[in-house]
Amino acid sequence: MRDRYSDLVNSRSGKTVAGMLGLPRPAKLRRYVPGQPLLVGAAVVKGVAGAPLLPEIRQVLASMAVPDVSDAATPDVATPDVATQDVVAAQASPSPAGPSLSRPSPSGSAPRLGAVVIDASAARVIEDLESLRAALAPCLRRLSPCARIVLVGTPPESLADPTAAATQRALDGIIRSVAKELRGGATANLIYAGQGPGAALESPLRFLLSARSAYVDGQVVRVAPADVRAPTDWSRPFAGQVVVVTGAARGIGASIVEIFARDGAHVICLDVPAAGEALARVANRVAGTALQVDITAADAGQRIAAHVAQRHDGRLDIMVHNAGITRDKLLVNTDAEWWGSVLGINLGAQLRLNEVLLDPELRGGLAEGGRIVSVSSLSGIAGNRGQASYAASKAGVIGMVQALAAQVADRGITVNAVAPGFIETEMTARIPLATRELGRRINSLGQGGQPVDVAETIAWLAQGASAGVTGQVVRVCGQSLLGA
Ligand SMILES: NC(=O)c1ccc[n+]([C@@H]2O[C@H](COP(=O)([O-])OP(=O)(O)OC[C@H]3O[C@@H](n4cnc5c(N)ncnc54)[C@H](O)[C@@H]3O)[C@@H](O)[C@H]2O)c1
Repeated sequence: MRDRYSDLVNSRSGKTVAGMLGLPRPAKLRRYVPGQPLLVGAAVVKGVAGAPLLPEIRQVLASMAVPDVSDAATPDVATPDVATQDVVAAQASPSPAGPSLSRPSPSGSAPRLGAVVIDASAARVIEDLESLRAALAPCLRRLSPCARIVLVGTPPESLADPTAAATQRALDGIIRSVAKELRGGATANLIYAGQGPGAALESPLRFLLSARSAYVDGQVVRVAPADVRAPTDWSRPFAGQVVVVTGAARGIGASIVEIFARDGAHVICLDVPAAGEALARVANRVAGTALQVDITAADAGQRIAAHVAQRHDGRLDIMVHNAGITRDKLLVNTDAEWWGSVLGINLGAQLRLNEVLLDPELRGGLAEGGRIVSVSSLSGIAGNRGQASYAASKAGVIGMVQALAAQVADRGITVNAVAPGFIETEMTARIPLATRELGRRINSLGQGGQPVDVAETIAWLAQGASAGVTGQVVRVCGQSLLGA
C-alpha cells in the first residue's frame, strides 16, 4: 500500500510546504539491488580500549568490495583517546535517491561517511565510554543519507565484573539513543560478539552495514563463535539449497520467496488450497514449486517432507514459518473458535511442523546444519489492544524459538525469529486510517516497512554464514516505540 503522506512531503512542492510547516519528511530508504554496492560512502573503523576485533572488522569491510580503499585518516575524527582509527574504504559513489536530513559536513573536503564501525568489545570501565563518545560524535555530522553505524561489544551477561558488565550494557543505551537521533534513513545497531567470534562476525556485520537492513534500526544482535559456512558468492548464498516458505501466496510470504530465489535457492511455496491461483503465480515467477497445504492439517509436516523427498533428493535446508492470521477482538468478546484459529495457525502448526521436520530419520526433513526462521510480531513483544490471541501466538513463537535453538544446536541447526513492526501489506491496509497512520509513524524512520525488509532479514538469518546467530528475535520495525 502507498504511503501518501510520504509521497506528498517528498514531492517537489510538498517539500517546500513541509519545510515551512516543520512537518517531518520520512527519508527514502536505500534498499539492496543486486549489482549495486552494499555500502555507499566512506567507511570509518575505530576502536576503543584495545579493540581486539579490528582486524576482523577491517577484513569484512574490505571483502564487501568497496572500491577506492584509502588509508587516509580523516583529521576531524582524530581523538587522543581512540586506540586506532582508520578510514578503511572511501568510495566516490552517488548518493542514494531521496532527501538527506543529515547535517552538512563541516569540512568541504572530508568524505561523507556511509558507515561507522566501532569496536568497543574490550571496553571495561566507564572512562572507555568517553572514548567511545569522542570517537563517534564527530562522525555523526558527516553521515551520508542511509548511513550505517554499528557498534561491536561483548555480551554483558558473559562478564562477571559489575563495572565491566555495566560498561558493556551501556552500549545498548547508547546505540538505541543514537538510532533515535539519526536522520536521513541512517540506522544504528549493536552486535554483542561472544569470546573470539572469528568468522561468525562477518554475516551480521555485512547485513547491518548493507542496504539489506534498511528497516532494522536500534537493534541488538548477539553472535557466538560457530562453525561458519561462508558462501563462495555472497550475492547467491543459497545456491543449490531448498527452502519451504509458508503463507507464500501474497504479502510478506511472496516477498520472502522472491528474495530466496534471487539469492539462489529453489523455493517450495506453500499456502492453503483457497490461495492456489495466487500461489501458482508466485511459484512460477521464481521457477519454484507450489504446495497447497493447510499447515493446521494433521499430516502437513509429512506432506512437506514427501514433496521434498520426491523432488529435491530429500534435502530441506531452510524452513520459513511465515503463514499467519489475525482475528482482532477484545479478549472479553473473543470466543473459543477465534482464539483457537489464531493460536492454531500462528503457533500450534509451527510447533507440530518443527517436531515432524526435525526427526533425523525422516526423508525430506530438515537437514543437519539447517535453518528455521519464524515470523513473530511486535504484538508478541508489546501486546496490543484487541490482539490478545495474536499477541499470545506471536509471543509463543519467541518462546518456541528460544527453547528449540538450544535443543538443536548440537546438530548445527539455528532457530531464529523476526518481529516485524508496521509493514505495508494487505493485512495492515485493513487497519482503520487513523490507527494505520499512527502505526506507520511511531518509529525512528517515520514510515512503514516493506515486505522486502522482512524478507531480507529472514534471508540473512537463514544463511550458512549466520551460524553464530541463534535463539534470537530481530525486530524489523524501524525502531518502533512499541515494546522498545
Ligand atoms: N503485515 C504486517 O505489518 C505484519 C506485522 C507483524 C507480523 N506480521 C506477520 O507476517 C506474516 C505475514 O503477514 P502478511 O501481512 O503477509 O499476511 P497476509 O495475510 O497478507 O498473508 C498471510 C498468508 O498466510 C496464508 N495462510 C493463512 N493461514 C494458513 C494456513 N492455515 N496454512 C497455510 N497458509 C496459510 C494466507 O493464505 C496468506 O497467503 C504473518 O505471520 C503475520 O502475522 C505481519
